[in-house]
Amino acid sequence: METTLTLDEINIRYGHENHIFIEEKTAGFPIITLQSPTATATVAAHGGHVLSYTPNGEEPVLWLSALSHYKEGKAIRGGIPIIFPWFGPHPSDTDKPSHGFARTRFWTLHSTRLINGEFPQVRFQLMDGELTRSLWPSKFSLELVVTLQESLKVELFIKNEDTKPFTCTCALHSYFAVSHISNIEIQGLEKTSFIDQLTGGPLKVQEGPITFNAEKDNIYVDTAATCKIIDPGFKRAVIVEKSGSLSTVIWNPWIDKSARMSDFGDDEYTGMVCIEAANAAHNAITISPSQTHLLSTSIRAESI
Ligand code: BG6
Repeated sequence: METTLTLDEINIRYGHENHIFIEEKTAGFPIITLQSPTATATVAAHGGHVLSYTPNGEEPVLWLSALSHYKEGKAIRGGIPIIFPWFGPHPSDTDKPSHGFARTRFWTLHSTRLINGEFPQVRFQLMDGELTRSLWPSKFSLELVVTLQESLKVELFIKNEDTKPFTCTCALHSYFAVSHISNIEIQGLEKTSFIDQLTGGPLKVQEGPITFNAEKDNIYVDTAATCKIIDPGFKRAVIVEKSGSLSTVIWNPWIDKSARMSDFGDDEYTGMVCIEAANAAHNAITISPSQTHLLSTSIRAESI
């Protein structure tokens, strides 16, 4: 998006009547609204960050903190942060930002379109530059495509623009809204090995469906499985499919960690859970020059 354009000019160029329009949350912080016949989604140019996805007449599917920052350089708390080129703390330099830099940069709005005249799609790009190369040496381009159809589809194309292969970890770090964390379960990762980030140590194995009664921060490895949040309070199941991802991260900060985060309300942990389509730990990916890796997730809700 050319920053010299006014909001009206941006809407003339990228808007589609009743389906795609651009507003500013605060000056210089554009938010793109996508509206299909059955749902609404919003995406911030900052981070290429999906903020919301709400089927008509339903509870929001994604969770967003009431205390989130909306400021260049600060990650938005909730929605779908894009994690690249490292997941979690930087492996060798903890002064570098947690979860990489893609979620704290403004992305360029590249194009918008309507599929079959009613399903909106928006495309953003992020390229390497001086700042990214001061944190991570490789040349890359990222393209994010968000499509609102029967489901919300988020596709991240990671291209190696360098002359040497690079290895990265990454995630679509989706935060889901739930009626109460104590009353849900997540199905799909039964019998899957995981790294318990809270205890460390050898891999553990998930026995039954995942339930919550304390902080949880698990990286499930070597899994391409679809997950399902069963939420009797909201009378729905949220189905989270993914591709190009062999790790799934399940996170809820519970009481003490919530209290330590300035952009997370003390009681907000009761209304959220993260299911992240990732490539982390030994599922890191190596991309050759000129090659592209596609990481994607598709999210929908069904009544139960
Ligand atoms: C999860 C990690 O993906 O993100 C957790 O597994 C981390 O360890 C959480 O606490 C939130 O990270 P951040 O950097 O957004 O506070």
